[in-house]
Amino acid sequence: MQIVYNTESFSDKIREYKTRGNKITLIPTMGNLHQGHRVLFSKAPNSSIKVATIYVNPLQFNNIDDYQNYPKSLQTDLEVCRQNNISLVYAPDGDVSDEIVTEKSIDLPKFTRYLCGKKREGHFLGVFKVVKYLFSIVNPDFACFGKKDYQQLLLIKYLASTYFPKTNIIDVETVRDSNNIALSSRLTRLSKESYGSTFRIYETLQNMKQELLKGTSFDKLKKESIEYLKSNDIHVEYLDVRSLITLEEETDKLKSCGIFIACHIDGVRLIDNIEI
Ligand code: PAJ
Repeated sequence: MQIVYNTESFSDKIREYKTRGNKITLIPTMGNLHQGHRVLFSKAPNSSIKVATIYVNPLQFNNIDDYQNYPKSLQTDLEVCRQNNISLVYAPDGDVSDEIVTEKSIDLPKFTRYLCGKKREGHFLGVFKVVKYLFSIVNPDFACFGKKDYQQLLLIKYLASTYFPKTNIIDVETVRDSNNIALSSRLTRLSKESYGSTFRIYETLQNMKQELLKGTSFDKLKKESIEYLKSNDIHVEYLDVRSLITLEEETDKLKSCGIFIACHIDGVRLIDNIEI
């Protein structure tokens, strides 16, 4: 496995692979790798060279504390990459924001203003810029992204179809622990007690799904679920039923919809979603 720390060496390596006729799968991450990332690595087609990036992108954080507290574990991450047959890791050793050249005004699709886009101003613009920068260097044949960050996945599909039509986006199902908690790097910031409580997020989504399918009113379920979570110190930011295609709010129609949640526990923000 090779590790590069700057754009120039990264571009050179990618050019070498391409000259040899290799196909490339790109797996962008912010590090602090867990089982969710490992599954992403495993979904890269075997015939391709696996390239991972590890970079905590300041452009996508709207809160400086959140950025500074983002867990970092480069040496362990590199070991995880090695064990998962990654051929090349790009781990910039500084802030690359200045290298990211973009058009003056970027018009993101409407759905980026919903859900996580509502409270986290600039978040999706930051994601868009960094992923476009990585795709511009690599122009990958495949790129893997998780459904846990469903809104991000839709944005990446928009980015690929608009600017990188040759890139196939591989969607990866949400990876959960034995208590069905969606794995996230942020979980490491929770106390043991709070961690023990987070199974209630998925439990709530599943209960809501069952009740919605039985015909129970969404408004009633939403109110009860928010109360239930609150009584367990989980504070809901949003809890919506939305179209899996447009992310428009849907309360009557359940076909091609999902339930989306963001909540705060112990000052840590977690998100999850399930398809109905
Ligand atoms: P990060 O949170 O490190 O996630 C990297 C990739 O792993 C994303 O595609 C994310 O959806 C996926 N992932 C994380 N947890 C997962 C889980 N439990 N199950 C399945 N997939 C999971 O997402 C980012 O980084 C950044 O926004 C990035 C795309 C790298 C741009 O900076």
